[in-house]
Amino acid sequence: MRYLDIYGEHLSRIGLGTWQFGSSEWGYGDDYDNGEAAAIVRRALELGITVFDTAEIYGRGRSEQILGGALGDADAFVASKFFPVFPTPGTVVRHAHQSIERLGRSPIDLYQIHWPHPHAPLSWSMRGMRRLLDEGTIRYAGVSNFGLKRWQRAERLLGAPVLSNQVQFNLIRRKPADLLIPYAAANRRIVIAYSPLAQGLLSGAYSPDRLPEGFRRRNPANPLSSKRRLAAAMPLIGALREVGESHGATPAQVALAWVIRHPNVIAIPGARTVEQLERNAAAADLILTAEEHAHLTDVARLNLG
Ligand SMILES: NC(=O)c1ccc[n+]([C@@H]2O[C@H](COP(=O)([O-])OP(=O)(O)OC[C@H]3O[C@@H](n4cnc5c(N)ncnc54)[C@H](OP(=O)(O)O)[C@@H]3O)[C@@H](O)[C@H]2O)c1
Repeated sequence: MRYLDIYGEHLSRIGLGTWQFGSSEWGYGDDYDNGEAAAIVRRALELGITVFDTAEIYGRGRSEQILGGALGDADAFVASKFFPVFPTPGTVVRHAHQSIERLGRSPIDLYQIHWPHPHAPLSWSMRGMRRLLDEGTIRYAGVSNFGLKRWQRAERLLGAPVLSNQVQFNLIRRKPADLLIPYAAANRRIVIAYSPLAQGLLSGAYSPDRLPEGFRRRNPANPLSSKRRLAAAMPLIGALREVGESHGATPAQVALAWVIRHPNVIAIPGARTVEQLERNAAAADLILTAEEHAHLTDVARLNLG
């Protein structure tokens, strides 16, 4: 495992995303929620993963419960998020305390605003975050799905660094490499890359003839639901496979290695099985050459924009 050491925190470059836990939209079923999910967390700890990401909306709190139960009092850096429906300062504080109840551990290491609110002033959320930091309920404040300007504004309103911005970052969605990652690298901040495998697309398990199951990946907003999009991704899957062959690695591992080759980036892939988790953890030790990295980026740009 490789780590990012920042502000005295020892953060694994590959973490574990837990949206899948307790979430019917992924369609993994009861056996997953009642057994495999906890086994994934315990194995992650054994493999040196220290970063675990959840949110109050994942499985309507079930993900936090499963994660907290499996972690027990293990040493880990746990990140959760509040969903800003009506984010007054008081609501933000109350929701953090509810997350602590479900997680069964305190403080929350990193508490993130899940999405920017289209209408409510950002100052409300940041006042709530300030209170949480001051009372010791959370250790760091973070944001998610924020552009650079909004991230910096959140920092001004908080009067302190907002440690991280969690955004979609993978070979298909490369935009964070333009502004967010350079800002993080230059200012001791972190970009947390969600959907680093493009929800499984970059594993090579899917093709126009083999679409994934589950509501989440079959809705029209998702590239995995479109045969045309999957067809366009096939040259990239081929390139991932080719690069992987020279390293004895799978396409998914190469896709993760591409993400964490960027400075101050931590990837948080989700996992359906313990075996997937093990492969994802091992990807932390796969170091791509500059040529391999550039080649994959070029193939992605050429075929997927
Ligand atoms: N902040 C936000 O708005 C936001 C949004 C989305 C996600 N997230 C966070 O980011 C985490 C990860 O994103 P994600 O779950 O959307 O997508 P992802 O990590 O790109 O994809 C996860 C899926 O890929 C497949 N997979 C994982 N490891 C694999 C391996 N080694 N080989 C082959 N297939 C593998 C599994 O699905 P199958 O085996 O079923 O194909 C797994 O469920 C989430 O759990 C959540 O914590 C945050």
